[in-house]
Amino acid sequence: MDEVMNIVTVGHVDHGKSTVIGRLMADTHTLPEGKLEAIREQCRRNSKPFEYAFLLDALKNEQAQGITIDTARCFFKTDKRRYIIIDAPGHIEFLKNMVTGASRAEAALLVIDASRGVEENTRRHGYFLSMLGIQQVAVLVNKMDLVGYDPKVYEDISSEYAQFLKKIDIEPAAFIPVSGRQGDNIADHSPNMPWYSGCNVLEQMDSFTSAPLPEHQPLRMPVQGVYKFTQGGDSRRIIAGTVDAGKVQAGDRIVFYPSGKKTAVKSLEVFNAPTPERFSAGEAAGFTMTEQIFVKRGEVVCLESDPAPNVGVRIRANLFWLGKQRFDAGREYFFKCGTTHVRMKLEKVERIVNASTLSSLLRQYVEKNEVAECILTLERPVAFDLAGENQSTSRFVIVDNYEIAGGGIITEAMKAYDYDVRNIRWTAGRMTKDERIRLTGRRGLVVWMTGLSGAGKTTIAQEVERLLVEQGIGSYVLDGDELRRGLNSDLGFSPEDRKANIRRVTHVAKLFRNAGLITLVSLISPYEESRRLARETIGSGSFLEVYVKASVETCRQRDPKQLYKKADAGKIADFTGIDDKYEPPVNPDLVLDTELWSEEECVESLMGAIEAKMQGNK
Ligand code: ADX
Repeated sequence: MDEVMNIVTVGHVDHGKSTVIGRLMADTHTLPEGKLEAIREQCRRNSKPFEYAFLLDALKNEQAQGITIDTARCFFKTDKRRYIIIDAPGHIEFLKNMVTGASRAEAALLVIDASRGVEENTRRHGYFLSMLGIQQVAVLVNKMDLVGYDPKVYEDISSEYAQFLKKIDIEPAAFIPVSGRQGDNIADHSPNMPWYSGCNVLEQMDSFTSAPLPEHQPLRMPVQGVYKFTQGGDSRRIIAGTVDAGKVQAGDRIVFYPSGKKTAVKSLEVFNAPTPERFSAGEAAGFTMTEQIFVKRGEVVCLESDPAPNVGVRIRANLFWLGKQRFDAGREYFFKCGTTHVRMKLEKVERIVNASTLSSLLRQYVEKNEVAECILTLERPVAFDLAGENQSTSRFVIVDNYEIAGGGIITEAMKAYDYDVRNIRWTAGRMTKDERIRLTGRRGLVVWMTGLSGAGKTTIAQEVERLLVEQGIGSYVLDGDELRRGLNSDLGFSPEDRKANIRRVTHVAKLFRNAGLITLVSLISPYEESRRLARETIGSGSFLEVYVKASVETCRQRDPKQLYKKADAGKIADFTGIDDKYEPPVNPDLVLDTELWSEEECVESLMGAIEAKMQGNK
């Protein structure tokens, strides 16, 4: 029995979905040995009544510990086939699932609480199903036990909801009166509702027809990655991805869209398994090409002989918006379709529909929970199909501020010349500082260490660098002496040259900070004015001014580089502290007095200050 069907369960959170699923699993005897008893026992011990929903929770917990799954999935089987139940606890999960192609639900169970009736969310869910083209829907009127198994309640709800579904072109397969808690009409024909003569839930599920995998459609394989053989001298690339539709085999002439680059499949590649004759819809695939063309993630592999997908920067779409912030034309979003990820703007709202009341209105932004017909403009050309042609290449999600905020289906490819796409200004393609911090978790900092030559700046900085790097925190010392040997080798020690020196190092430090490093600048930087400029350029938020304090007398005694000796002898001019001024910081973030404290104490104190600053910045 190889047949598998994906079924999505939808409904308002409190309407008893989990109980129904728990009951389905129990009644089909697909639960792990002893599971049901264990949970009953647990409930007894905690003196709470047993609920089938607990069963589901327990299973979900176990699954979550074992494998990473983006949504709760349960498996069970009947005599006819195996089922994968995709439980979508909320709109967002539902959307992610349906749109990212993680699951191809062929049918849906929509649960309504008989004691509460059709609610706003119930209608909204129906709308989503219709929009995503899920035509096989069974409506479970649940909790019939709470309404005394009253046929009137069932009939009222059925007729009210049937009317709604009709308006959105869904003809429900059945309305089944059930009680998840009592098990009525789940796997049996309930003696409590003799007035109902239709199928029970399991029978209904078995009567859904399985959609054939779209093998016979045109090939669509979004490129997930391009890998190179690593063996010596081998320059072949492997194109990897999942075949969404159609099939591909060695010798096929292929085209990558949107680039339009053509080549042929040379060999199919699989890891640690015999090479198949072809890859078909639903399978993970990899192949090499006869020419070594350069293609990237996000392109779609198609057959040269098949109808090509659309390629464009403007689309008409039906989308639902679930974002906290409204969807409007003033902002930039990300558009994800297949493996493509591009910047996007809302060009125009053509119509807004309230997914629950179906009333429509016109305004130029979309609020949470609304459905809208819109025109979207993309930063770069993308390959896509239209709804009804191919599921995965016609569905998309919109990302707002790193979160999925909407999604929908593409209904039309729009011509670019209708609207001057070139006039749109997009954020520079480069990753921003904030984006980088979010992705790497590394926030940089500039620790500006000022003080006389020989005060101990570099010694302390180098020790702190070591401690940080040992903890896995990126850190680097920018040392005056070192930079003066390269970047600043053209500079001397006149006031102008010192200012230029500090200005350059400030710039480098800022870049190192942007890269996410804790950058320790070890520079005499004798002038208050230059240090103020450094703080301004880098920004107080990530700038820590540390005064490494020691008197000229102490430094002269230490004289590690024998420079004071030379300066005193008149061999070096403009030496800081002797014949050039040093302006101590008026209000430093930290003072390390190296006359009073040991090196260890200074290091510890600086580590503490860095930690505090980083904490404060989070
Ligand atoms: S700064 O004043 O421009 O900030 P920086 O820290 O880059 O100075 O360089 C100071 C280092 O240069 C000292 O540690 C010392 O080794 C060397 N040096 C050579 N001549 C001088 C000088 N006249 N004054 C200060 N430092 C000097």
